[in-house]
Amino acid sequence: MLRKLFLSLLLAAGCLPLSAARPGFTLWQLPPQGPSQMNSYVIRTDAGRVAVIDGGTAADAPYLRGFLAALGNRVEWWFVTHPHVDHMGALTEILRSPGGIEIGTVWQSPMSDAQLDTDLNRRKPADAYLEALAASGLHVENLTEPGREMRLDGLHLKVLQVNDTATLVNAYNNASIVLRLWDKRKSLLMLGDTGEESGDRLLRSVPREELDCDYIQMAHHGQMGVREEFYRTVRFRACLWPTPLWVWNNDVGEGYDTAWMKTPETRRWMDEKGITEHHCAWQGLVKIE
Ligand SMILES: [Fe+2]
Repeated sequence: MLRKLFLSLLLAAGCLPLSAARPGFTLWQLPPQGPSQMNSYVIRTDAGRVAVIDGGTAADAPYLRGFLAALGNRVEWWFVTHPHVDHMGALTEILRSPGGIEIGTVWQSPMSDAQLDTDLNRRKPADAYLEALAASGLHVENLTEPGREMRLDGLHLKVLQVNDTATLVNAYNNASIVLRLWDKRKSLLMLGDTGEESGDRLLRSVPREELDCDYIQMAHHGQMGVREEFYRTVRFRACLWPTPLWVWNNDVGEGYDTAWMKTPETRRWMDEKGITEHHCAWQGLVKIE
């Protein structure tokens, strides 16, 4: 109470920047700019420093460039959850042609050759991303163990899971880095495209209190990600859906739930769990403070 009063007096007297009295971060979920599903989150600490998780497809790059320019064109941390084009396509474009964007460190969890070879169509763009990254000369940190805790101003971050090179089933999605982000106001669990096997590993290896959160990023765009058991086990109050409308409705022109996506099933799980707060990328830019 006294500390709060002291801080407000200092703030009123202009002795403190606003960020000192409100330490934390804002997270934006960016909307897709093309037809593809994508995963793109931008974080700005209250002191003005920026981090990115993924960034979306090549079609999302121009919007992302504008967004980052408005925040000062410098990204301290860029996390690539896994090398699928809907996650690193925009970054690949930016690496090839930065256009004024400075990047401090790129964080990734490398896949083995055997894992990359499990999908030869997707290996090509993954190799192109890795080539662009190597050519950029940027500082790269390869995460091979979970557990690393990091702090950027008021942003706390913990790496809960990294790629397990022994996993060859659904290898790209299961390679997803899983992050916990938090400040004094909120916590978020960012699952990337975590699949069933990787979700099971999370439940086995991470204490429940580190999985429980305010906001959960729905795995693999909200369908065919982690199992129902994962969503039943973890406690959360709101969902972030990196999901375009056609995936949300499983509709490619023939009507609701007529295509191959399983999103309506995940939506039903959330209804049964009693979750009513949903933030969907198809609705536009989402801001979490
Ligand atoms: Fe994805």
